Amino acid sequence: KPEAFKGAHDFKTVLGDLTASAFVREGFEARFGQVNVSDRPDLADFQCNGALAVAKAAKANPRDVAGRITSHLTGDDHIKSLEIAGPGFLNFVISDSALSDRANVLREDERLGASTVDTRRKVIIDYGGPNVAKPMHVGHLRTAVIGESLKRIMRFMGDEVIGDAHFGDWGYQMGLLITAVSDEQPDLPYFDAGFDGEYPTQSPVTLADLERLYPLASGKGKEDPDYRDRARKATKELQDGRKGYRALWQHFVTVSREALIRDYGALGVEFDLWYGESDADPYVAPMVEELTAKGLVVPDQGAQIIRVAREDDKSEIPPMLVVSSEGSAMYGTTDLATIKQRTVEFAPDLVLYCVDQRQATHFVQVFRAAYLAGYAVEGQLEHAANGTVNGPDGKPFKTREGGVLKLYDLIDSALEKAKVRLEEAGLGKDLSAEDFADTAHKVAIAALKFAELSNHRLTSYIFDLDRFMSFEGKTGPYLLYQAVRMKSILRKAAEQGVGAGAVTVTEPAERELVLLLDGFDAALKESYLKRAPNILADHVYRLAQTFSKFYAACPVLIAEDAATKSSRLALVELTLKQIEKGLDLMGLTAPDQM
Ligand code: ARG
Repeated sequence: KPEAFKGAHDFKTVLGDLTASAFVREGFEARFGQVNVSDRPDLADFQCNGALAVAKAAKANPRDVAGRITSHLTGDDHIKSLEIAGPGFLNFVISDSALSDRANVLREDERLGASTVDTRRKVIIDYGGPNVAKPMHVGHLRTAVIGESLKRIMRFMGDEVIGDAHFGDWGYQMGLLITAVSDEQPDLPYFDAGFDGEYPTQSPVTLADLERLYPLASGKGKEDPDYRDRARKATKELQDGRKGYRALWQHFVTVSREALIRDYGALGVEFDLWYGESDADPYVAPMVEELTAKGLVVPDQGAQIIRVAREDDKSEIPPMLVVSSEGSAMYGTTDLATIKQRTVEFAPDLVLYCVDQRQATHFVQVFRAAYLAGYAVEGQLEHAANGTVNGPDGKPFKTREGGVLKLYDLIDSALEKAKVRLEEAGLGKDLSAEDFADTAHKVAIAALKFAELSNHRLTSYIFDLDRFMSFEGKTGPYLLYQAVRMKSILRKAAEQGVGAGAVTVTEPAERELVLLLDGFDAALKESYLKRAPNILADHVYRLAQTFSKFYAACPVLIAEDAATKSSRLALVELTLKQIEKGLDLMGLTAPDQM
């Protein structure tokens, strides 16, 4: 189904409709009436380029066509001036009264101008993708932060959205861990195949143990073929349901999940589902059987595969490995079985995978396999890929020691830096220790998440905490700071007993602010359609900047007369609401004070 929206009343839509009917009245197609924000804000607010396109096809003079269109539009209340520029552009300037009306409508609109999807869909967003025993690192920030924001945007636009962490708790890495623990603590009952008592409820390994054992085992598995065979065998036995292994594995999962919940909690990332790859396991055997019967799963050198290459492939897409020669289900297998599972349990219209771009081929394989199997139709599965977080050398970020920076430590150092920055800026002096800590936490998270969201998801960016944490420039702390300023103006107004009232736009800075507030819906729609929260991030940043300009040019609390005061106060209130909504859609919260 094509994605469409309803309920937009922004100038782009309203002017677009007016202009479209003018084109129709002149015998042209409505689509030529499309209106966009002007790329010359010094000359116009909006522009329409349709006359040029029409004239070319009709072999007419574009300025003449533009003139005919203009004749239907003059006198409309929205328009202060309409000029034909250059070869035949239509340049619109919105009237002050239309801007005032628009601001007053937005003040009453709890959606702040946002439209909704035309058809509500059920969407599953697969993001986060943390793994058992592998601590989350800076790379895991991206998928978590982008996925969370997309979830919130789609939900706000009216879809039913389910966020699933798709926990990496299955496969070879589990076999590696079982092998490593069996070498260190061979006497545990988990390894005794004849054991038929109760397994201990207490985990034999801590998170620290797992984090130490995993790289160790993974290294050994690469070097030592015997070790690798043992790990593969353990994987297979786990998947086949060996009781002791299942019990031990359950401990791994529980211990790891606790740390993940802590880290995601600190980041304000919330999943609706904590399904793991293992949850798809019951679907694997029947699926393999079904797809073998269909002739889709075929034997290949002792393993079983699905061929997914297409004739017009530009680069080679290798077959998807379904069952290894040891008989284990693979990464692609669990993903395919998960598609089946999701269809059975949720019947989603769309599944969006927020996962690293480096897994692109994997998803091509899995999606094609799903289409071939009839589990999904083309377009129902989508990989919203992301680039990497790089160090100053342009390669994926590493600590000075060459290791990966753990997400937990990263959040911790961001928090420390936020405290220092607040103090340096002379902020937070009047806050209690508790409020200061809360503000610092919000600033730290805003710095990390906004750095992420202000880049297009596919753009790899350089991790630079110092820059992210600045109160100036395109940063999270800057946004929060502007929101806090608005809150403090409103608090002072309340103290003085001044209330917001009807908006009357007169000053250029007020015009600019209202035009931007009017652009919220367009930014949301584009973010939604492109699965690109950076467009919303951009809007919120420009709103903060434009507010700052407005506040410098238009005194609020010391405005000369009462009507101006309450009009400007209303603009502050509205701007704050939209900024806070935008922040919320990015998974951020502004503190009340700084
Ligand atoms: N756990 C995987 C990794 O760390 C990411 C999982 C992504 N989601 C999925 N459905 N494959 O690479």
